[in-house]
Amino acid sequence: MPHPPLVSKLPDVGTSIFSVMTQLAQESGAINLAQGFPDYDPPQPLLEALARHVLTPGHQQYAPMPGLPRLREAIAAKTARLYGYSPDPGTEITVTSGATEALYAVLAAVVRPGDEVLILEPAYDLYAPAVRLQGGVPVYVPLLLPDFRPDWDQVAAALSSRTRLLLLNSPHNPTGATLTAADLDTLAGLLRDSPTLLLSDEVYEHMVFDGQPHRSVVGHAELRERAFVLSSFGKTYHATGWKVGYCVAPPALTAELRRVHQFVTFSVSTPTQHALADVLPDTNLYDSLPGFYQHKRDLFRELLAPTRFRLLPVQGGYFQVADFRDIAPELDDETFARRLTQETGVAVVPISAFYHNRQDHRLVRFCFAKQDATLRTAAERLQQL
Ligand SMILES: Cc1ncc(COP(=O)(O)O)c(C=O)c1O
Repeated sequence: MPHPPLVSKLPDVGTSIFSVMTQLAQESGAINLAQGFPDYDPPQPLLEALARHVLTPGHQQYAPMPGLPRLREAIAAKTARLYGYSPDPGTEITVTSGATEALYAVLAAVVRPGDEVLILEPAYDLYAPAVRLQGGVPVYVPLLLPDFRPDWDQVAAALSSRTRLLLLNSPHNPTGATLTAADLDTLAGLLRDSPTLLLSDEVYEHMVFDGQPHRSVVGHAELRERAFVLSSFGKTYHATGWKVGYCVAPPALTAELRRVHQFVTFSVSTPTQHALADVLPDTNLYDSLPGFYQHKRDLFRELLAPTRFRLLPVQGGYFQVADFRDIAPELDDETFARRLTQETGVAVVPISAFYHNRQDHRLVRFCFAKQDATLRTAAERLQQL
């Protein structure tokens, strides 16, 4: 019997470009600067804590649905220390399976069919498909080259009575742009009398450079009243494979998020949460990250200086965007990225992958969250171009 037809809900969506380029990197033996993950391990105390808790009787069963209380308390203390606001661990913090699950659960909780969701482009590739799966309508506002700043007038023009949610991402993937205190004030003014909620993806919160502080929406008294703010322990502790993140949001928003979270994953790995709760009070582990990543940014830029790549500014995150027009003006960014992977041996991601209409600015993204030796070897290859 023929099986019943399945009509795709996302017919235009293929395998994510990160998986495609990673596979191409593996097949061609290229250095993978495409996908955003480090090639070094999490801090030793975190690894030891996980080993300890895996061996602790009683730490192997389901954790409470919103997250272990001791981890949520540690998150509250960290948030208070960094952003001057102490969320209630009972009603305002939810531990999720990576920021990915938090993003999906927030969108599922908030977006109804026909609702508009504002996305600043280029944007992380999960946002638009997750909005569309809820029947929402993504409305795209371009970030302005070369430093990918939001144009708040364009944001204001795109806001309508149907705008359910605005998605922010700072530090930004793929561009490394960061929002300023003035940006947040401007946004607060735009949203003041509207019912629009905010989803602030801050997974790179500990990677902000040149002495600048990270401007979290949690630290903005007005905006946090309407915001879901996300972070990722995978990014903070070089443990992207652990898939643990969290969401801070006011009680009414958290309640809705949890209604979805409880049916998506119910809860997050128990020993992993214990291990994170052990190390989170060690402030040095995350206070050292801006310096650690600024060194990598500066090293990578220095190594690429003799090449014909034009490097765009990077204020945060762990990606470097580069213009390749002086190397191969005739190629679109995807073809260039494939050739760079297969012929030069360095895998990158084309920036068109972050635009819904595949807009091509002749830019590619390098991930510099790699050992210095990896960056040097990659640069030697890139210097041949
Ligand atoms: C902007 C952004 N948001 C969310 C995520 C996903 O975070 P997690 O690995 O915690 O699910 C990533 C991962 O690359 C990201 O770059």
